[in-house]
Amino acid sequence: MEYINISTLQHWKKKKNKFAAITAYDFSFARLFENAGIPVILIGDSLGMTIQGHNSTIPVTVKNIEYHTRAVRKGAPNVFLISDLPFMSYYEINQALKNTSKIIQSGANMVKIEGGKHLIHIIKELSNHSILVCGHIGLTPQHIDFLSGYKIQGKTEKDEKKIMEEALLLEDAGIKMLVLECIPAQLSKKITEKLSIPVVGIGAGHHTDGQILVMQDLLGITEGKKLRFTKNFLINNGSIQNAIKAYINSVQKGIFPNKKYSF
Ligand code: KIV
Repeated sequence: MEYINISTLQHWKKKKNKFAAITAYDFSFARLFENAGIPVILIGDSLGMTIQGHNSTIPVTVKNIEYHTRAVRKGAPNVFLISDLPFMSYYEINQALKNTSKIIQSGANMVKIEGGKHLIHIIKELSNHSILVCGHIGLTPQHIDFLSGYKIQGKTEKDEKKIMEEALLLEDAGIKMLVLECIPAQLSKKITEKLSIPVVGIGAGHHTDGQILVMQDLLGITEGKKLRFTKNFLINNGSIQNAIKAYINSVQKGIFPNKKYSF
């Protein structure tokens, strides 16, 4: 695979070439995903649930993210890697800079942070230090108690306006990519059209430039109730390699997520 960098992703946005992303946490899956053609991997703090067995992302530490980023980078040397800055690891500038440098040194190309307006000064400072930052708005799992659970955001006119404003503010502050989680497809369409940076959706409909899924959801091995926007690609594709290829193909063709998997 060619080495993927931020210019590759910007170019795809301009050309309207949709791309597939996935979470990964270890060497073996990262290698398999790169070989199957995945261009973007997120070392997500979802590892709090998928790897550590907690019921939220809150207990994840910077050390955890460093550890998994190192393993994933070894398996996927050419993929564009985004790593989460975990809960409360970026509330103050020096702390955000220190934790980001550890994660970038572990092999990430970009760090992802959850939230809106209150992060503007952090994004500006990280960008001043030439750090690529990805925003994450809509449903932000690090604020799960504040949001009273995992549910769709941006349903009212007021919330929709707030999410649109946050997207514009974050882009203006310097983010180079944005994740939209669990918002109505029509809202993510508007945001994707308005922003000049790549927008990646999860539970946000098919209009975004890219899609991301948690690998365990894609392979149908997530415990508990199936979330509406997740799809088991393994069930009809025989092998993990083929499941990943089917996912990439469905995203590139705009077939996934269709209405059944959107809000
Ligand atoms: O941690 C994670 O896996 C994420 C994705 C759900 C986007 O943030």
